[in-house]
Amino acid sequence: MNPRRSAVYPGTFDPITNGHHDLIRRAAGIFDRVVIGIAANPGKTPLFTVEERVELSRQVLADLRNVTVLGYSGLTVDFAREQGCGIVIRGLRAMSDFEFEFQLANMSRHLARDIDYVFLTPQEQFTFISSTLVREVALLGGDVSEFVHPVVAAALGSRKKA
Ligand SMILES: Nc1ncnc2c1ncn2[C@@H]1O[C@H](COP(=O)(O)OP(=O)(O)OP(=O)(O)O)[C@@H](O)[C@H]1O
Ligand SMILES: [Mg+2]
Repeated sequence: MNPRRSAVYPGTFDPITNGHHDLIRRAAGIFDRVVIGIAANPGKTPLFTVEERVELSRQVLADLRNVTVLGYSGLTVDFAREQGCGIVIRGLRAMSDFEFEFQLANMSRHLARDIDYVFLTPQEQFTFISSTLVREVALLGGDVSEFVHPVVAAALGSRKKA
Protein backbone atom coordinates (compact mmCIF):
# COMPACT_ATOMS: atom_id res chain seq x y z
CA MET A 1 0.00 0.00 0.00
CA ASN A 2 1.39 3.39 -1.03
CA PRO A 3 1.87 5.59 2.10
CA ARG A 4 0.91 8.67 0.08
CA ARG A 5 -2.50 7.11 -0.55
CA SER A 6 -3.04 6.00 3.06
CA ALA A 7 -4.15 8.40 5.76
CA VAL A 8 -4.58 8.41 9.53
CA TYR A 9 -7.34 10.55 11.04
CA PRO A 10 -6.39 10.94 14.71
CA GLY A 11 -8.57 12.32 17.48
CA THR A 12 -10.21 11.61 20.79
CA PHE A 13 -13.64 10.81 19.27
CA ASP A 14 -15.33 11.05 22.69
CA PRO A 15 -17.76 10.32 21.11
CA ILE A 16 -17.68 10.28 17.27
CA THR A 17 -20.03 12.99 15.88
CA ASN A 18 -21.68 13.68 12.54
CA GLY A 19 -18.91 16.25 11.97
CA HIS A 20 -16.23 13.55 12.26
CA HIS A 21 -18.35 11.28 10.07
CA ASP A 22 -18.62 13.94 7.35
CA LEU A 23 -14.82 14.32 7.28
CA ILE A 24 -14.21 10.56 7.28
CA ARG A 25 -16.61 10.04 4.37
CA ARG A 26 -14.74 12.72 2.37
CA ALA A 27 -11.35 11.23 3.27
CA ALA A 28 -12.51 7.73 2.30
CA GLY A 29 -13.32 9.10 -1.15
CA ILE A 30 -9.87 10.66 -1.55
CA PHE A 31 -7.50 8.04 -0.08
CA ASP A 32 -7.20 4.29 -0.70
CA ARG A 33 -7.17 3.57 3.00
CA VAL A 34 -8.18 5.64 6.05
CA VAL A 35 -7.24 4.59 9.58
CA ILE A 36 -9.20 6.29 12.36
CA GLY A 37 -6.75 6.57 15.27
CA ILE A 38 -8.54 6.91 18.59
CA ALA A 39 -6.12 8.41 21.07
CA ALA A 40 -6.28 7.07 24.61
CA ASN A 41 -5.70 10.72 25.66
CA PRO A 42 -5.81 10.38 29.45
CA GLY A 43 -5.04 14.11 29.71
CA LYS A 44 -8.58 14.86 28.50
CA THR A 45 -10.29 12.47 31.01
CA PRO A 46 -12.70 11.12 28.39
CA LEU A 47 -16.30 10.12 29.14
CA PHE A 48 -15.98 6.85 27.18
CA THR A 49 -13.04 4.43 27.48
CA VAL A 50 -10.87 3.99 24.41
CA GLU A 51 -12.47 0.56 23.85
CA GLU A 52 -15.96 2.10 23.96
CA ARG A 53 -14.93 4.90 21.59
CA VAL A 54 -13.45 2.38 19.15
CA GLU A 55 -16.57 0.20 19.30
CA LEU A 56 -18.97 3.13 18.77
CA SER A 57 -16.88 4.43 15.86
CA ARG A 58 -16.76 0.98 14.24
CA GLN A 59 -20.54 0.76 14.37
CA VAL A 60 -21.00 4.27 12.94
CA LEU A 61 -18.48 3.67 10.13
CA ALA A 62 -19.39 0.05 9.31
CA ASP A 63 -20.49 0.92 5.76
CA LEU A 64 -17.17 2.52 4.74
CA ARG A 65 -15.13 -0.38 3.37
CA ASN A 66 -11.71 1.31 3.24
CA VAL A 67 -11.95 2.71 6.79
CA THR A 68 -10.42 0.94 9.82
CA VAL A 69 -10.77 2.03 13.46
CA LEU A 70 -7.93 1.46 15.95
CA GLY A 71 -7.04 2.78 19.40
CA TYR A 72 -3.53 4.09 20.04
CA SER A 73 -1.36 5.81 22.60
CA GLY A 74 1.88 7.66 22.00
CA LEU A 75 2.82 10.01 19.19
CA THR A 76 0.45 10.31 16.24
CA VAL A 77 3.36 10.33 13.78
CA ASP A 78 4.64 7.03 15.22
CA PHE A 79 1.16 5.53 14.91
CA ALA A 80 0.92 6.78 11.30
CA ARG A 81 4.26 5.17 10.42
CA GLU A 82 3.30 1.89 12.11
CA GLN A 83 0.16 1.86 9.98
CA GLY A 84 2.11 2.65 6.80
CA CYS A 85 0.32 5.99 6.42
CA GLY A 86 2.15 9.06 5.06
CA ILE A 87 -0.78 11.44 5.52
CA VAL A 88 -2.50 12.74 8.65
CA ILE A 89 -5.97 14.24 8.27
CA ARG A 90 -7.29 16.94 10.57
CA GLY A 91 -10.48 18.97 10.46
CA LEU A 92 -11.00 22.72 10.43
CA ARG A 93 -14.34 23.99 11.67
CA ALA A 94 -13.53 27.66 12.07
CA MET A 95 -10.64 30.08 12.48
CA SER A 96 -10.57 29.04 16.15
CA ASP A 97 -9.29 25.57 15.13
CA PHE A 98 -6.62 27.02 12.86
CA GLU A 99 -4.05 28.20 15.37
CA PHE A 100 -3.84 24.93 17.30
CA GLU A 101 -3.93 22.77 14.17
CA PHE A 102 -1.22 24.87 12.49
CA GLN A 103 1.01 24.52 15.55
CA LEU A 104 0.39 20.77 15.75
CA ALA A 105 1.15 20.23 12.06
CA ASN A 106 4.40 22.17 12.28
CA MET A 107 5.54 20.32 15.41
CA SER A 108 4.75 17.03 13.68
CA ARG A 109 6.78 18.06 10.65
CA HIS A 110 9.77 18.54 12.89
CA LEU A 111 9.26 15.08 14.37
CA ALA A 112 8.58 13.31 11.08
CA ARG A 113 9.50 14.94 7.77
CA ASP A 114 7.98 12.08 5.79
CA ILE A 115 4.44 12.75 7.02
CA ASP A 116 2.16 15.45 5.63
CA TYR A 117 -0.94 16.97 7.18
CA VAL A 118 -4.05 17.42 5.04
CA PHE A 119 -6.94 19.58 6.30
CA LEU A 120 -10.56 19.04 5.38
CA THR A 121 -13.60 21.19 6.16
CA PRO A 122 -17.05 19.80 6.87
CA GLN A 123 -20.34 20.73 5.25
CA GLU A 124 -21.58 24.00 6.85
CA GLN A 125 -24.24 22.37 9.03
CA PHE A 126 -21.53 20.44 10.90
CA THR A 127 -19.18 23.34 11.59
CA PHE A 128 -20.45 23.98 15.12
CA ILE A 129 -20.40 20.36 16.33
CA SER A 130 -17.75 19.24 18.83
CA SER A 131 -17.63 16.15 21.04
CA THR A 132 -17.36 18.40 24.08
CA LEU A 133 -20.60 20.26 23.28
CA VAL A 134 -22.42 17.06 22.37
CA ARG A 135 -21.39 15.48 25.69
CA GLU A 136 -22.47 18.54 27.64
CA VAL A 137 -25.85 18.81 25.94
CA ALA A 138 -26.54 15.06 26.31
CA LEU A 139 -25.55 14.86 29.95
CA LEU A 140 -27.80 17.84 30.74
CA GLY A 141 -30.72 16.05 29.10
CA GLY A 142 -30.76 17.81 25.71
CA ASP A 143 -31.56 16.08 22.41
CA VAL A 144 -28.39 15.31 20.43
CA SER A 145 -29.97 13.07 17.78
CA GLU A 146 -29.24 15.69 15.10
CA PHE A 147 -25.51 15.66 15.85
CA VAL A 148 -24.60 11.99 16.38
CA HIS A 149 -25.46 8.54 15.01
CA PRO A 150 -28.33 6.77 16.87
CA VAL A 151 -25.92 4.25 18.51
CA VAL A 152 -23.95 7.16 19.95
CA ALA A 153 -27.12 8.93 21.13
CA ALA A 154 -28.15 5.70 22.90
CA ALA A 155 -24.73 5.33 24.53
CA LEU A 156 -24.86 8.94 25.76
CA GLY A 157 -28.38 8.35 27.05
CA SER A 158 -27.37 5.34 29.12
CA ARG A 159 -24.34 7.24 30.46
CA LYS A 160 -26.64 9.99 31.69
CA LYS A 161 -28.65 7.59 33.83
CA ALA A 162 -25.53 5.79 35.09
N1 LIG B 1 -17.57 19.07 13.31
C1 LIG B 1 -16.33 18.94 12.86
N2 LIG B 1 -16.02 19.34 11.61
C2 LIG B 1 -14.75 19.25 11.16
N3 LIG B 1 -13.71 18.79 11.85
C3 LIG B 1 -13.97 18.38 13.09
C4 LIG B 1 -15.28 18.42 13.66
N4 LIG B 1 -15.21 17.96 14.93
C5 LIG B 1 -13.91 17.64 15.13
N5 LIG B 1 -13.16 17.89 14.04
C6 LIG B 1 -11.73 17.69 13.87
O1 LIG B 1 -11.43 16.33 14.11
C7 LIG B 1 -10.15 16.20 14.70
C8 LIG B 1 -10.24 15.37 15.96
O2 LIG B 1 -11.04 16.09 16.85
P1 LIG B 1 -11.43 15.71 18.32
O3 LIG B 1 -11.40 14.25 18.54
O4 LIG B 1 -10.70 16.61 19.24
O5 LIG B 1 -12.98 16.13 18.25
P2 LIG B 1 -13.65 17.36 18.91
O6 LIG B 1 -15.07 17.37 18.44
O7 LIG B 1 -12.85 18.60 18.71
O8 LIG B 1 -13.62 16.89 20.42
P3 LIG B 1 -13.30 17.72 21.73
O9 LIG B 1 -14.43 18.65 21.90
O10 LIG B 1 -13.24 16.64 22.78
O11 LIG B 1 -11.97 18.39 21.51
C9 LIG B 1 -9.63 17.63 14.90
O12 LIG B 1 -8.80 17.98 13.81
C10 LIG B 1 -10.90 18.46 14.88
O13 LIG B 1 -10.64 19.79 14.41
MG1 LIG C 1 -11.02 18.94 19.72
